[in-house]
Amino acid sequence: MNETLQTWRIDAPGQTLVLSSTGGVPGAVYWGSALPAGEDLVALSRASVMDVTGGMIDALPPLSLCPEAARSFDGQPGLVAYRGGQPLYPRFRMEQADGQQFTCRDHDLGLALVITFEVLGDTLVGTTRLEAEEDLTLHHLAAPVVPGPQMGAEIVDFAGRWIGEFQPQSSRWRPGIHMREARMGRSGHEHPPLAYFPEMGATNTQGTVFAMHYGWSGGHVMYAEELADGRRQIQWGHATGTRPSGTVFRTAPLYLAVSDRGMNGCATTFQRLLRDHVVQWPAPQRPVHYNCWEAVYFDHDPEVLRDIATRVAGLGAERFVLDDGWFGRRDDDTSSLGDWDIDPRKWPEGLTPFIDHVEALGMRFGLWVEPEMVNLDSNLARAHPEWILGPSDQIEGRQQRVLDLSKQGVRDYLYRKLATLLANHRIDYLKWDHNRLLPIGSAAQTEGVYALLNDLRSAFPEVEIESCASGGGRIDAGILSLTQRVWLSDSNDASERLRIQHDAALLLPMAVTGSHVGPRDCHTSGRVHDIRFRAWVAAQRHMGFEMDPRELSDDEAQVLTEVTQWWKDNRDWMQRADILRLDSGDPSIIAEQQLAEDGAQFVVFAGKAAASSQIVPRPLRLTGLVAGTRYRIKLTNRGDAHHLSRGTPVLKSEALEVSGVYLMNHGLNLPWSFPDRMWVIEGTKL
Ligand code: DGJ
Repeated sequence: MNETLQTWRIDAPGQTLVLSSTGGVPGAVYWGSALPAGEDLVALSRASVMDVTGGMIDALPPLSLCPEAARSFDGQPGLVAYRGGQPLYPRFRMEQADGQQFTCRDHDLGLALVITFEVLGDTLVGTTRLEAEEDLTLHHLAAPVVPGPQMGAEIVDFAGRWIGEFQPQSSRWRPGIHMREARMGRSGHEHPPLAYFPEMGATNTQGTVFAMHYGWSGGHVMYAEELADGRRQIQWGHATGTRPSGTVFRTAPLYLAVSDRGMNGCATTFQRLLRDHVVQWPAPQRPVHYNCWEAVYFDHDPEVLRDIATRVAGLGAERFVLDDGWFGRRDDDTSSLGDWDIDPRKWPEGLTPFIDHVEALGMRFGLWVEPEMVNLDSNLARAHPEWILGPSDQIEGRQQRVLDLSKQGVRDYLYRKLATLLANHRIDYLKWDHNRLLPIGSAAQTEGVYALLNDLRSAFPEVEIESCASGGGRIDAGILSLTQRVWLSDSNDASERLRIQHDAALLLPMAVTGSHVGPRDCHTSGRVHDIRFRAWVAAQRHMGFEMDPRELSDDEAQVLTEVTQWWKDNRDWMQRADILRLDSGDPSIIAEQQLAEDGAQFVVFAGKAAASSQIVPRPLRLTGLVAGTRYRIKLTNRGDAHHLSRGTPVLKSEALEVSGVYLMNHGLNLPWSFPDRMWVIEGTKL
């Protein structure tokens, strides 16, 4: 082996990865905040060599970008593969490096490993490709493996469920593997492919934090492992064993972020990545949505829907999305998925007269579909039982099964049906749903979905698509490279939504995150929330309504109209703002600051999720401001103060002009309020 030390550095704004190799697969000797331009990489590689002592082998086995069992690496290897039933133990040698791409080969086994990095915005993106001369069976292939922080005590990853997405959970780094795996063919509510690795003492606004996102919708695995010697590694790849045998395998892109400004530094890196580099936008501006699901469910009556459309246009809606129930004989969720023809019983004149009505009101029209699914009670399933994925005695999910999209015939059928709908109607938006986990994890299924979406996007580039999977069951950079919005949750409960969208901001920018004002009596929680709270929570993201507008009192309609107008007046800069999660001295306050790209203005949404334990509100500290600059601060909705707020915090009566230092070190004194209320504070740089 060539023992000459080679080194490389890859820089993204705010972070540097330094790699070295003495002939094998390169390994990271540094991943962290940006290094100075003149850093001596050879000195740094030598400085990074760790000691050995008794009870160890005589050198530390390399923790490379693809750790190899055959080099005495005792942790999770980066590649686990079999040929003819026998495990393969590759020992790769570096053959070619061009600074961002590294090609390594094991000639004896006929394997090539190609590891590639690129920089997208502030994110470093790594992918690994394996090429084999003969077929092999792949168990696991890791995207480029990086060391876990030695100063970190915690692994923050995400759990979740229907109407309870993006639940951060913290585990301690300790010897052994902490593993998360989404095995059922979806990035999933249960295991969103996102993790944060804070160093000790880091918060939302300060400290060093590392974060990773695996951009794949088909199920993934993450290993965060502390090795016996104390080093740590983090691996991401497709869910184990979800690919057929073959000769070429590629991981999804792994997105890496580093921050010395707390969790927010990584959150905004990912928000900007998705908004500016991943999502392809047909039109820049986000229209206010109306979605009829929680108003009428499957009960489509064109007269009622015309009335609803007229009312929501008056409230400020700009796009009407007709949800489930328009096709086949879809009177409930037991039938018709697969039969993508308009139901003539409900829509005897087709959809066009309704679309005309919607457009005459100044709105655009969107339609719900769930193309990957089929009910056994459908013409499609009766005609093509062989198109259904998985065993015939599988447990169904929502009474439905999954079409096998790895089959070209299935994709052709779906393309034809959807293209016909789009070609024959003025539809500029599809809400693309996916309401069950797969019966088996299959990467080919996800590739099939991507191919179908890609074909539709090429043919109808002006049509936007929303990724919905019973709410937020399929949210990742893979699906977002082909869609423009996610339906973050089926929970329109403003209190739940406040929490969910706060935690989802660790990945998602405002522009892609749908948020609707739901019914007064929440259908998924049974809670009743004031319209002001419901409206302001929706106004934090891509705003919409989803209640039956006939239930609104005059006061509710007026509040909703005003908040919607506020949103329209501010959406242009908010769409491009960073969402900064605020640290709060009061755990019942869930607060964020949306800071304009040029720093000239911001809005703070301070939601009160529960009653506080102390009686007087604690000051709320802001972040990301210029210390020596003064800001003008006003409480936008000061009229919402309750009469039980009897004191005189200045913001109740007038605007305030103070410095960034004050705002970031002391914070704002806000009026007392009930739980399930939101204060909205606007700030302008003077
Ligand atoms: C689940 C989605 O998340 C809902 O918003 C709605 O579209 C229903 N499916 C329709 O069946």
